This record gives sequence, C-alpha cells and structure tokens, in this order.
Amino acid sequence: MSHEPLLKTEHLTKSFVARRDVLGRPKRYVHAVRDISIHVEEGETLGLVGESGCGKSTLGRAILRLHEPSSGRVFFRGKEITTLSKRELRPLRREMQIIFQDPHGSLNPRMTIRSILEEPLKVHGIAESKSELDDRVEALMKRVGLRPDQLDRYPHEFSGGQKQRIGIARAIALSPSFIVADEPISALDVSIQAQIVNLLRDLQDDLGLTYLFIAHDLSIVEYLSHRVAVMYLGRVVEEGPARELYEAPLHPYTKALMSAAPSPDPRREKKRLILHGDLPSPLDPPSGCAFHPRCPIARKGICDRDEPPLRTVVPKRKAACHFAGEF
Ligand SMILES: Nc1ncnc2c1ncn2[C@@H]1O[C@H](COP(=O)(O)OP(=O)(O)O)[C@@H](O)[C@H]1O
Ligand code: SF4
Ligand SMILES: [Mg+2]
Repeated sequence: MSHEPLLKTEHLTKSFVARRDVLGRPKRYVHAVRDISIHVEEGETLGLVGESGCGKSTLGRAILRLHEPSSGRVFFRGKEITTLSKRELRPLRREMQIIFQDPHGSLNPRMTIRSILEEPLKVHGIAESKSELDDRVEALMKRVGLRPDQLDRYPHEFSGGQKQRIGIARAIALSPSFIVADEPISALDVSIQAQIVNLLRDLQDDLGLTYLFIAHDLSIVEYLSHRVAVMYLGRVVEEGPARELYEAPLHPYTKALMSAAPSPDPRREKKRLILHGDLPSPLDPPSGCAFHPRCPIARKGICDRDEPPLRTVVPKRKAACHFAGEF
C-alpha cells in the first residue's frame, strides 16, 4: 500500500471577489492562495510562515473548508474532502479543528466556559448525560492548565493566555487528529507565548496531534515545526525540513525573513539580508517572480518575466527561485 500523509493539498487555489461592477458582477479578484500543494504527515507540525496578508489564514481555512476552495483538491487520510457535501463532511469536522489568532474574539462573551466547551460535545452527540458532560469539560480544563472550578465564569474574566487555553480546550474537545493553529500566540504577551507553545507541544506528544502551525515570524515556528513552508503573495516559495531550512535557506525571501528575526545563533548573523519595501498588493501582483521588486539578487530580463516554479532543489527541499541555492 502506498504511503499517504494525513493531509495533502493539490494545486489548492482560493480567490475572493475584490470588486464588483454596477450590476454586481465580479470585476476584480484577490488571488489569496495560488496553486498550493503541501502535505502534513501524521504527528508532525508543518510551520506555515509569511508576512501578514500573504494568504496563510486563507490556506488554513480552505483546507478545513471554512472557505470553499476556488479550485484544487484537499485530501485527508487519502480521501478527497473537497467534493464532500456538508453532511458528508460532518464526521470529518471532529477530526479537523482550528485554534484562532484572537482568543478574545473567538469566544462568545455571553457563554460560560462550560457552555463553550459543552457545545461541540453536544453537537456531535459525544456526551449526552449531564455527569458525562461535566466529567469531560472538567478533564479538558485540567488538560489545558485551568481550574475546573472556573468553568462557570465568562470569557472576560480570563487573561489573554487563559482565553487561548480555553480556545485550545475547545479545539481538542472532540479528540481531533489535525489542528490548524492560526497564529495562536501572536495576540499574546511575549511573556506567556512560550507557555502556550509548550502546551501545544505537550498536547501533540500526548494526543498524537498533527498541526499546521501558522505564524508571521520564522523564529516562532522553529521550536515546534518538523517542516516549514514559506509563503509569499499566495504561493509557497520554499518548503523543507525545519533544520535544513534554518541552517541554509534556499530562497532569498526565506533568508530575508530569517534576518528580520533575532537569532541566538551567531552563525546565522552572517547570512543577514535586509528586506526593502512593503508587500505588494495581492490585487496586483508583480510580473514574473512576485518577489522580484524586493529581491536583492533579482536579475533583469529573467526574474521580472518568468515565474519560477516550486521545484525540488535538493532532496526533500523545494524552492521557487530561478537561482535557488546558488547565492
Ligand atoms: N473574506 C475575504 N474577502 C476578500 N478578501 C479576503 C478575504 N479574506 C482574506 N482576503 C484577502 O486575501 C489575502 C490573504 O489574506 P489572509 O489569508 O488573511 O492572509 P494572512 O493570514 O497571511 O495574513 C489578503 O489580501 C486579504 O485581504
Ligand atoms: S527568481 Fe529572481 S527575484 Fe525571484 S527570488 Fe529568485 S532571484 Fe529573487
Ligand atoms: Mg492570518
């Protein structure tokens, strides 16, 4: 039997209508996610990194079908899920969950923590009796480092870090196997970010979870990720095992992102490369290689004309650059 990753996308694309004409017909599109083929192995973390607006959340949501993909396919345990009806998708919803960036906005302020955590259990008919529900939500609270005697409080009574713990408890309530963690620590104080990262890592070990871990900063995903995919303007520009990618990035954009983050490793200081200019609008991406207006090694007549495909540069490592690995 051939090996299947837990999750796989093939040429996944998601466009949004950005503008409509007076008759309401689409006039312009934002190509938020373009032709993305990634895979995540069971039990591993794929870190997904890129500047704000490059399409990370859209990709995470399209994988879970919280956004309907415009084209391309998503496979879960080898089975295509992009063609499933809402009803057919339902059992899979238990298996695939999301942790949101904003722990405050993602918790209903009028619900107690108990009802927030009971909701998915009730919807999926997992625990029906009162005592079973009580046991389950109490165990969930303990699992994420919160006290069960706080179950009848409301979200506003908790700190940001505690709220994110509640968001995590909700995500694991149905014993999923795959979780999209969409910048789960970006909105938190630096002092508590590590605690949440450690919690996610412990949960991965204990429950055998598989993560797509989204961040805008390479240093955050380094600790957690087995492999990393770097996005730029809707496309994956580099992908590979985390250690190798951090040691010797193949794409100039990865190199620039690494330079932007402080690193405790002095060997990396030598590889500094400064990124100029802002992210271009995904409404109007540059010709050729979308990175060319900001790329310090771009070559005229090549980079501004031909879009480099994502190709295998060395075994298990891909990059979308005409000169990948040559600089
Ligand atoms: N629902 C939407 N409607 C229209 N455009 C959207 C929508 N969601 C995201 N976009 C656009 O898609 C692009 C990618 O957004 P997003 O996936 O949120 O990026 P990231 O998570 O990397 O910050 C952005 O240009 C954003 O404005
Ligand atoms: S293809 Fe050219 S512009 Fe794009 S990253 Fe490579 S060198 Fe830079
Ligand atoms: Mg986002």
